[in-house]
Amino acid sequence: MRKFILAAASIAALTFVGQASAQAPIVLKFSHVVASDTPKGKAADKFKELAEKYTGGKVKVEVYPNSTLYKDKEELEALQLGAVQMLAPSNSKFGPIGIKEFEVFDLPYILPDLKSLRKVTDGPLGAQLLKKLDSKGMTGLAYWDNGFKQMSANKKLIAPSDYKGLKFRIQSSKVLEAQFRALGAIPQVMAFSDVYQALQTGVVDGQENTWSNIYTQKMHEVQKYATVTNHGYIGYVVVVNKKFWDGLPADIRDELSKAMKEATEFGNSQSAKENEDALAEIKKAGKTEIISLSPEQDEAMRKAMMPVYKDVASRVGQPLIDEFLKETGRSPMN
Ligand code: LMR
Repeated sequence: MRKFILAAASIAALTFVGQASAQAPIVLKFSHVVASDTPKGKAADKFKELAEKYTGGKVKVEVYPNSTLYKDKEELEALQLGAVQMLAPSNSKFGPIGIKEFEVFDLPYILPDLKSLRKVTDGPLGAQLLKKLDSKGMTGLAYWDNGFKQMSANKKLIAPSDYKGLKFRIQSSKVLEAQFRALGAIPQVMAFSDVYQALQTGVVDGQENTWSNIYTQKMHEVQKYATVTNHGYIGYVVVVNKKFWDGLPADIRDELSKAMKEATEFGNSQSAKENEDALAEIKKAGKTEIISLSPEQDEAMRKAMMPVYKDVASRVGQPLIDEFLKETGRSPMN
């Protein structure tokens, strides 16, 4: 795979140079792992529409959804090598390339609602986190929402003890690993595109994700139960290859920045509704029983996951966790 990425990178570099001289459009490949009909998929398509419009066709954006170009682990490597120019990986996926701080978003119950999230991402803390990407050959352009995660399995998940001994698919985040360990479950890192089959064949017993991801990957067809936990958040950092970005003519970069700003506003204004709609569709399909927790059951889940904060403090950084909590103004216990 590495060879393939390297070959693609050199072709991309040659194409870029060739395009600049022949005045052919600059091609910007945008790869992502989810379906087009999701918050990220729709924001990516909106960016394409606006970027091509604002640059008068000087930039051609090719969007590759559903892991058609790269799977989770490969996409950030491909971006760093310049084989693809833009991605929007979830916060959870930056740990393996050495940026652990984004895993703060994975802490259970750290974000009470999207309003608190916005305070973090739109403020100095959000900007400070984006800056960390520079040293990895990428520029952070925006934060895109998906929404809150829910738990699913072939077993009813109500009390923390229900998770004991079950295998759960996780994204590549140490915080998520600690979260499932706190519940006595066995976390297993797996690419997003492999989850449906792993659930279907019983390689894992359950998973956590947003309603829109669960529905568009058809996970509800192979999971008997899903519990409304809203225990964690999935959001994305839109990143662009730094050399590509810095090498663009300034006027083009400005138009692309404008397109990104508007695509972000568009996507983030719709994400909550898209997750609500997906939940409605899952209910309509009737294959998964949706379980709601009482306030006492919700409190028991929060309590069971609180040790995660201590477990990962040295990895994510206690000052960052404190700053995050200060911004949201709420305790993860309520
Ligand atoms: C996952 O791997 O579960 C998510 O990060 C997929 C995505 O990009 O929403």
